Amino acid sequence: MKLSNKVLAMEHSPIRKFNAIAQKANEAGKKVYYLNIGQPDVETPACFMEAIRAFDEKVIAYAESGGVAALQDAISGYFRQYGMEYERENIIVTNGGSEALSMTFISLLNPGDEVLIPEPFYTNYHTFVTMADGVIVPITTTPEEGYHYADAEKIEAAITPKTRAICCISPGNPTGNVLTLEEIRLIGEIAKKHDLWIIADEVYREFAYDGRPATSFGMAEELADRVIIIDSVSKRFSACGARIGCIVSKNEELLDNLMKIAQGRLCSPTVEQIGAEALYKLSKSYYDEIRAEYEARRDVVYKELMKIPGVVCQKPGGAFYLTAKLPVDNVEEFLMFLLTEFDDQGETVMFAPAEGFYATPGLGKEEMRIAYVLNRKDMARGVELIRLGLEAYNRR
Ligand SMILES: Cc1ncc(COP(=O)(O)O)c(C=O)c1O
Repeated sequence: MKLSNKVLAMEHSPIRKFNAIAQKANEAGKKVYYLNIGQPDVETPACFMEAIRAFDEKVIAYAESGGVAALQDAISGYFRQYGMEYERENIIVTNGGSEALSMTFISLLNPGDEVLIPEPFYTNYHTFVTMADGVIVPITTTPEEGYHYADAEKIEAAITPKTRAICCISPGNPTGNVLTLEEIRLIGEIAKKHDLWIIADEVYREFAYDGRPATSFGMAEELADRVIIIDSVSKRFSACGARIGCIVSKNEELLDNLMKIAQGRLCSPTVEQIGAEALYKLSKSYYDEIRAEYEARRDVVYKELMKIPGVVCQKPGGAFYLTAKLPVDNVEEFLMFLLTEFDDQGETVMFAPAEGFYATPGLGKEEMRIAYVLNRKDMARGVELIRLGLEAYNRR
């Protein structure tokens, strides 16, 4: 018996690759600071649990394939706060942003069609695009330039007759790059000129720091027919396990066809949709609170990192990640050293090597991604351990 070439071509998650080794370090009595995965420690707002506790049906029935109407209305209200008008019929509720992305790529791509994605990018895009028989064409960015990609020359150089879409993650995972409205419009112009779809992965929308406003491709009215927004409760509301996200678009043909896939997988979880409705109804003050918390964490991480000689990194403007170049040839080997040979007072640290966030072979070997999802004290200690680890590594 054989497996498909498609599944064999996929990779296991580079974010989880070192989990078993970290687990061993744990079992050997070391405390490991986990800075590798975007699982926030912030509490899920209580309204989620309250809404679920109030669920009083005798049967957990299938929900509508496009989503529970009350949740679609709550999402519509959420977008209206930002001046974006999306009605119930513009919104398809999905099993997290992940399913929203898979369904979108399946709907847009024929075998061999290309999607432009600035690299480094959220590593699971490899899986989503491969599942849809597509090909990622990276727009390469560098730590020296702060991973900037909103540049017409750079983007147009990557376009071929097979390009169908450009995908922008803003605020960015793993770079923390936040697009301004001017940059959104610039990318929009290019997409119009080459007749491309725009997939706007905005699951970190409110995590924009230093006074940057929350931006969205949905704010550029002139792009309405080609913009597909990916949204999720996972990060914004610290509700990763709820598995609720959505696709938001004004393109009726796309929505109509997406519904075939939505119907094929029946529905997103009925009860969690009721919890998610409460989350999308939270007032803007909630975002101010979480933004302040993550911004403070970002500051701590950046300050500690800047104490390490040879680190290349510009202060990220958003999301809750920081990608930086370390003064080592191979970050994976350094991480292995941290987990197997190093400790400081019985403690060590884990981050995600950045190579898996690139599509271009060989890139990212000297970079790591940190997720600042722990409290400030732990984040500071985690980065301190990277610094002490580097000193020990270079002394060997
Ligand atoms: C940029 C980006 N998009 C989408 C997702 C998918 O999140 P979920 O499926 O939990 O909504 C993630 C998760 O880390 C992400 O970082």
